[in-house]
Amino acid sequence: MKVLIVGSGGREHAIAASVIKNKRVSKLYCAPGNGGISQLAECVPIGAMEFERLVSFAKEKAIDLVIVGMDDPLVGGLVDCMEEAGIPAFGPRKNAAILEGSKAFSKELMKKYHIPTAAYETFDDPVKAMEYLKTSSFPIVLKADGLALGKGVLICNSLEEALEGVKSIMLDKQFGTAGNRMVIEEFMTGREVSVLAFVDGKTIKPMTSAQDHKRAKDGDKGLNTGGMGTFSPSPFYTKEVDDFCRKYIYQATVDAMAAEGRPFKGIIFFGLMLTSQGPRVLEYNARFGDPEAQVVLPRMKNDLIEVMEACLAGTLENIELEFEDNAAVCVVLASEGYPLEYEKGKLIRGLETFEGKEGYYCFHAGTKKTEEGIVTNGGRVLGITAKGKELKEARKNAYEAVKWVDFENKYMRNDIGKAIDEV
Ligand code: AMP
Ligand code: GLY
Repeated sequence: MKVLIVGSGGREHAIAASVIKNKRVSKLYCAPGNGGISQLAECVPIGAMEFERLVSFAKEKAIDLVIVGMDDPLVGGLVDCMEEAGIPAFGPRKNAAILEGSKAFSKELMKKYHIPTAAYETFDDPVKAMEYLKTSSFPIVLKADGLALGKGVLICNSLEEALEGVKSIMLDKQFGTAGNRMVIEEFMTGREVSVLAFVDGKTIKPMTSAQDHKRAKDGDKGLNTGGMGTFSPSPFYTKEVDDFCRKYIYQATVDAMAAEGRPFKGIIFFGLMLTSQGPRVLEYNARFGDPEAQVVLPRMKNDLIEVMEACLAGTLENIELEFEDNAAVCVVLASEGYPLEYEKGKLIRGLETFEGKEGYYCFHAGTKKTEEGIVTNGGRVLGITAKGKELKEARKNAYEAVKWVDFENKYMRNDIGKAIDEV
């Protein structure tokens, strides 16, 4: 079986590491991949948005399964293009990936189907948005409608900040065309939890929970990033919370998408906030989280390919998802300056230390293979994951393992998983 993964981050490295465990996989390709993925797969220099080239490549190599890891190609319709060419592809079609691609769409869906989420209004006109804000209470949340690398959300503490926010999203187009429309949403407080789930169009099977740390600096300070570290499971995701979400959120979302004529196959990522009134949906993503995948997949006992095949075949109800009874923590090693400006091309030393170390993983994100060795090639460089019997041990192990690798301008948060001390 020949598999092609589309993407180039730590998430795709984690997917690749799971995929190659399947004995039927005789050849793995990744487009475009990165320095770490190139040790498991043949990386091909085709960008994730070059749909025609990706389809030609998949046809030429007779690929049996394409796995689309990233949001942009999913929202752009890469799965549809592959299917039109007769190539099985894992991920939602364009008409279902809109669940992530448009916050206005996802908010309307939740309202229509009574899925618990923050109250909101949608605006196409900045003047109307500003008028609305003058009657609002603060803090309030502004969200660019479209994809913005996880950065299109502004939490505004005053009217002045919010008016400035509308200007930057809708007029100055800080997030490009993603800001043509905007959602203004009630501010909620509580713990955040990420739950990823496999979906086959009608059945949904949630995976173990995780929590991300989106801000760049310790103590949840600094700018929003793609994610600076994760832990799994979340001790705040109790049985009671799980029961509520299964009853009012997970299946309800899948049924709503099917009822809208947009059956969802692939991964739904539920960004949840555990408020005092119960769990609420913060956002949906249409793919594995990054770096959530780096703590969830290493704990999954099932064969990833088999679960993906069941999603494509519509037979997910026959699959029992199983996770190890342990914990994992992932600490992201970034380039100093991320998410703003940072330098690239720094030699990474110590990668070989991970070889043969059971329970430790070094997932590459922004890295590149060169003649001198593997060098940094992005803001988030590596995701260091370690398992442990429970969260505290996993965290201790992960913070031990981050010392094994070094590069100039190495930056990380030192408090990934600190919240678990409160349990
Ligand atoms: P999103 O991309 O929608 O997940 O938003 C990014 C981050 O902004 C979330 O992880 C939350 O920390 C925060 N956020 C989003 N929506 C809200 C909200 N309604 N209330 C409070 N915080 C929010
Ligand atoms: N870690 C959050 C995301 O993948 O969007």
